[in-house]
Amino acid sequence: MRQLSTKYFKIDPKVPNLNHIQEAAEILKKGGVVAFPTETVYGLGANALDPQAVAKIFAAKGRPSDNPLIVHVAHIKDVEALAGPIPEQAWSLMEAFWPGPLTLILPKKEAVPPAVTAGLDTVAIRIPAHPVALALLKAVRLPVAAPSANLSGRPSPTTAEHVLKDLAGKIEAVVDGGRATVGLESTVLDLTAPTPTVLRPGGITLEQLQEVLGEVVLDPGLSQEGALTGITPKAPGMKYTHYSPRAQVYLVEGAPNQVAEKLKALVGEWKAQGKRVGIMATEEMLFRCREMTPPPDHIEILGSASHLQQAAARLFGALRNCDRYHLDVVFAQTFPEKGLGVAIMNRLRKAAGFKIIKADQG
Ligand code: TXA
Ligand code: MG
Repeated sequence: MRQLSTKYFKIDPKVPNLNHIQEAAEILKKGGVVAFPTETVYGLGANALDPQAVAKIFAAKGRPSDNPLIVHVAHIKDVEALAGPIPEQAWSLMEAFWPGPLTLILPKKEAVPPAVTAGLDTVAIRIPAHPVALALLKAVRLPVAAPSANLSGRPSPTTAEHVLKDLAGKIEAVVDGGRATVGLESTVLDLTAPTPTVLRPGGITLEQLQEVLGEVVLDPGLSQEGALTGITPKAPGMKYTHYSPRAQVYLVEGAPNQVAEKLKALVGEWKAQGKRVGIMATEEMLFRCREMTPPPDHIEILGSASHLQQAAARLFGALRNCDRYHLDVVFAQTFPEKGLGVAIMNRLRKAAGFKIIKADQG
């Protein structure tokens, strides 16, 4: 692939510099790829109506071509050119959660090229809630296809620095609008299924969706049991390994006091084998594990257990840090699967390749 000199635009989300926005929009209009901040994670954008521009996204990320992209728009009225027929429920959801971390799967219209949807007859659409993303979408006046701006398989980027680490020289530009605040990708909701189905848990919780829709189900392919019995997740992207640092990740599950004891024991065992060991846990769990001897080589604090949005916002950066500190193995605590905990556990399980240690056993 040809080396590009990746342009870097720093934009203050509070007062977006319109000259820089315009410059980034011009690159998109000319068929280039531009990474930009959203409230969830950084996206790697291209003109969704231009198959050649879209192809550049797949090439830069090394993304399998059977994995469709999310189309980002600026206004609810932009949806009708891309999708239809649009069910009544979709309008209620757009009103309740857009701009925001909810992606809707709808029947696709002719205008959307097959390169975007990986040949599916449905299309994924959302309006992101980030002032810089919205300013860019308004300036470009085109639908923008954008997956997360990471190399395929790596944790999604929550800073421009993460984007550059993966994609410098492979993309035309990156717009730096600061740290992504949600930190996990959008919830992907399939409205073409008989019952609305969450294909990827994310920033909008199941409980929030139930308030608007009544019945919502979680794709059975996403659960620990589903994965272990070989049920394939319905979103093509959810079947791939993802979020993995080079270190092996293990989840340690059980009552908090047992998890704390187990973490201490595991650190001791692996350190004795000469390995570089990390742990990833909440402040409360780390307090239980204090005075660890030997200490781990690195600790990632996932915020307070009572503020799951902190764990969500820090998780991908924490997984990337495992590589920065050259760890061989990382032990992470688990989270209750309620609210944002569902999305956090989905990402943690994938990062761990579904390896779980029960704290109350051996
Ligand atoms: O928060 C987000 O959603 C971020 C920001 C940039 O918007 N984007 C993102 O895109 O996470 P990506 O490509 O990393 O993940 C999109 C997911 C994949 O699992 C993909 O398979 C699924 O959505 N998807 C896209 N179109 C689909 C469709 N038509 N049917 C089923 N799943 C679809
Ligand atoms: Mg992704």
